[in-house]
Amino acid sequence: MKFFLDTANLKDIKKYAAWGIIDGVTTNPTLVAREGVDFETRIKEIGEVIDGPISAEVTEGSAEEMIAQGKEIAKWHKNIFVKVPMTEDGLKTVKALSAEGIRTNVTLVFSVTQAVMAAKAGATFVSPFVGRVDDISYDGIELIADIVGIFRTYGFDTEVLSASIRHPKHVVDSMRVGADIATIPPNLFDKMVKHPLTTSGLASFAADWKKFQAEQQ
Ligand code: E4P
Repeated sequence: MKFFLDTANLKDIKKYAAWGIIDGVTTNPTLVAREGVDFETRIKEIGEVIDGPISAEVTEGSAEEMIAQGKEIAKWHKNIFVKVPMTEDGLKTVKALSAEGIRTNVTLVFSVTQAVMAAKAGATFVSPFVGRVDDISYDGIELIADIVGIFRTYGFDTEVLSASIRHPKHVVDSMRVGADIATIPPNLFDKMVKHPLTTSGLASFAADWKKFQAEQQ
């Protein structure tokens, strides 16, 4: 199971990379815009910190424009995965980019049919949005499970990237149903690392040790 960081914030990327748990980074136009920095510069900065897939999303609308933009983005760093929206033009873009050996991450996936079409077009990753599916009262994890099962049945190489993760249970459930990757917002790692029994256990060990040391004197 690979953990990607779902952010364009360099400070956070450095913080969690130091924990030794980050296999890649996903960005989207919203996350880059939030940082108020130049897109290309930030992607290159991320590439200096993380040795793994970095998703950078096209922002143009037509296949011709997305193909041209995707080719440019792919030159920014050796680990770029061009993120392409799940549209008709997006499928054409994936086909064209993958024919040139450019890896892609098809984003905004909300159904099994979309995921299968993206895989058939040659997507390296598909990103079903778990949280946004839950938001409209459907089951995001069930969608991940369906896609994983169907990809395995038919032998698709495309990896399933569980996106729009909102809480640690989404991460655990994504693993439980066999997602290849989960892309996780930075603050969730703080929740995932903590457990009240670890905190209380550590406090009690420290208190016992302090008492023992005092008795030795
Ligand atoms: C990552 O690839 C997606 O863009 C991201 O996970 C979307 O998350 P959100 O639904 O919280 O915006």
